[in-house]
Amino acid sequence: MEQDVFRLHYEATRSRVEAALREQIGRLGRYADLREAMEYSLMAGGKRIRPVLVLESCRMCGGDPELALPFACALEMVHTYSLIHDDLPAMDDDDLRRGRPTNHKVYGEATAILAGDALLTAAFQTLTQADLPPQQVVDGVACLSLAAGPDGMVGGQALDMAGEGRSLTQGELEQLQSLKTGALIAAAAELGCIAAGGSQEQRAAVRKYAQCLGRAFQIQDDILDVTSTDEELGKPTGSDRENEKSTFVSVLGLDRSRELVQELTAQAVAALDGFSSPDFLVWLANTLAQRTK
Ligand code: IPE
Ligand code: IPE
Ligand code: MG
Ligand code: MG
Ligand code: MG
Repeated sequence: MEQDVFRLHYEATRSRVEAALREQIGRLGRYADLREAMEYSLMAGGKRIRPVLVLESCRMCGGDPELALPFACALEMVHTYSLIHDDLPAMDDDDLRRGRPTNHKVYGEATAILAGDALLTAAFQTLTQADLPPQQVVDGVACLSLAAGPDGMVGGQALDMAGEGRSLTQGELEQLQSLKTGALIAAAAELGCIAAGGSQEQRAAVRKYAQCLGRAFQIQDDILDVTSTDEELGKPTGSDRENEKSTFVSVLGLDRSRELVQELTAQAVAALDGFSSPDFLVWLANTLAQRTK
């Protein structure tokens, strides 16, 4: 019963995010093809884990999630841009994303690159529209730019590309995944705390939660690449093997990878000990550990 309540709350929060993204994208861009390409990927569904995390971290830290919506939309725009570029022929060369042909398959490489660039830039424009005290907006910009850039997601993607065709050590893989996936997920939780005007202690705790969650999330992504189907995932399975990527599955095997997802999820949950209402984020971590898409 309680599970259903959390599931419904997740769906309601996701719908709120969809509406806010729709509003944002409606304001962006005058050049028809570029705008259509941005919208094609941004409004293609997706689990919206990161923006939901922004809003729920805000709530848990005592803030009003409505005020965190621009932060949530900004993060989802950065995430969507990262997916468009990740799928390009020069990177993972994938043809399916969020159940649709990838952006470059529909609009061509040049427009796909530009749609990614445009979403990244529009993210920061969106973020600065938050109706929050200036210092919180500046902290939000600092947090997202650090997480998205060379010492965050882009750095991780660079390590990922450099690692193709090589067998990475577990340590190298942990660093790579903490950056390429963990950084934006950690930023999601931190942005929520910033929007709430939370304390440094709260910010450190939600960061710890989301770092563990992000690591578990990417290991599960590696698992699903070998155990799921294209239809279920909405993206091509077997992509990692085809690109000769080291993943947790290739380095540690399926069983140990599954154990690690459980261990990291338990660590994520433990990090929320000090909060009075962590229930939804506890549910989210446990649910993501069992996700099939
Ligand atoms: C896919 O992220 C890329 C990874 C970091 C593993 P998601 O699994 O959150 O993708 P969407 O947003 O639901 O499409
Ligand atoms: C990509 O990791 C993470 C990003 C920063 C986009 P993957 O390459 O494993 O993501 P999928 O499996 O294509 O979604
Ligand atoms: Mg990739
Ligand atoms: Mg990929
Ligand atoms: Mg993957």
